[in-house]
Amino acid sequence: MDKLSILGNGPLEGRIPVSGAKNSALKLMAASLLCEEPLVLTSMPNLADTRFMADLLKSLGVEVEWPKGEALCRMHAANITSTIAPYDLVRKMRATFNVLGPLLARVGHATVSLPGGCAIGARPVDLHLKAFEAMGADIVIEQGYVKAAALRGLKGAHIVFPFVSVGATEHAMLAAVLAHGETILENAACEPEIGDLAICLNACGAKVTGHGTPVIRVQGVAKLTGTRHDVIADRIEAGTFCIAVAATGGNVFVDGARAEDLGALIDCLQQAGVTVEVEAKGLRIKRDPSKPIKPVDVQTQPHPGFPTDLQAQFMALMCIADGTSTIRENIFENRFMHAPELSRLGANITVRGNEAIVKGVPKLRAAPVMATDLRASVSLVIAALVAEGETTVNRIYHLDRGFERLEEKLGRCGAKITRQEGSA
Ligand code: UD1
Repeated sequence: MDKLSILGNGPLEGRIPVSGAKNSALKLMAASLLCEEPLVLTSMPNLADTRFMADLLKSLGVEVEWPKGEALCRMHAANITSTIAPYDLVRKMRATFNVLGPLLARVGHATVSLPGGCAIGARPVDLHLKAFEAMGADIVIEQGYVKAAALRGLKGAHIVFPFVSVGATEHAMLAAVLAHGETILENAACEPEIGDLAICLNACGAKVTGHGTPVIRVQGVAKLTGTRHDVIADRIEAGTFCIAVAATGGNVFVDGARAEDLGALIDCLQQAGVTVEVEAKGLRIKRDPSKPIKPVDVQTQPHPGFPTDLQAQFMALMCIADGTSTIRENIFENRFMHAPELSRLGANITVRGNEAIVKGVPKLRAAPVMATDLRASVSLVIAALVAEGETTVNRIYHLDRGFERLEEKLGRCGAKITRQEGSA
């Protein structure tokens, strides 16, 4: 397993480009199953997770042309040859479960392994399945597999989600575009990735309106063509770099960061005393490293609230604030695994249920630490950038799932990060 060595060495300066959003790309890739003509995605992030989704699509009969390292991926689902997504392919990455809805809508049946839990919580898929049942699908769960059938096609339905779920909203949209009649999704998620999916589906001939609001309407159509679509910039990757610069101090242009997607983070950074300048094509983050970081209380919420996927990174920043902050996690039940690892670097964090009390310390000190999940891993990288000495972050395969060329991007701004390949 690879590991990273990071030498904390002062402010970051320069420009960091933002890649296409992993969380959007995965659902757009699933959408290719709905399209009779090629779907071409540009700004595709080259990540373990997106490559993994490409392998699953190939196993279902989709022709995928995506040369290694390229940002353009062409998918053509002219003939779907299998409707079975086996456990071995689904367990590695939850978003592969999102092929169920498109297969059901296009072919009328599918057998997809349940994704199971993950480190940050149980993460059930009950809302996804209830949405398909409301659209007329018969669902049976047998031996860890969801067997779904709607042999005469899905029909439009009025679905009121009991709470906001990004995955269930996207999955219901993916199925509803080829259903007979209108589907109304109430209490739908408003995340920017939902808007990206709707724009792409509409370019393929779908009729989706209301995306970006809590009520989405989908008028079913008989078939989808294809299109060429540019994946939205990754707001979580962008936000992570903004927080990294806030922590180290310096002056960095985060190229491609969209202020409209990062409002809650920008507010919190400004409250912490960080300068955030909104420029035409990105965000400029500045902080004089000699000035203290002010403590800021945050709680995670569905968009446009503070994103759970930036909670760990913001906690890393609060570890070196001049005072005490409280961080509350409202989306996932077990998303503080980074807290004990940050404490190994000298942070003072007390976790009580879904709240972490972070007492800022003047200095963090290097130590070996272990990455536990995707966003937790990168919070350790941020802490290591400001820690005194050389930190080793072990088990970084989590990072490779969601951050493209992280060490190269930070390295160009002066960070001292090296990858050690293949070590245990
Ligand atoms: C997506 C993102 C993830 C992000 C999360 C919240 C992808 C690939 N992942 O995950 O990075 O952290 O949104 O912004 O896009 N829930 C249920 N039943 C369901 C579905 C969800 O109980 O059927 C619960 C979850 O366990 C969680 C909450 O609802 O506690 C929100 O989860 P959801 O918004 O669905 O997250 P994901 O789509 O899995």
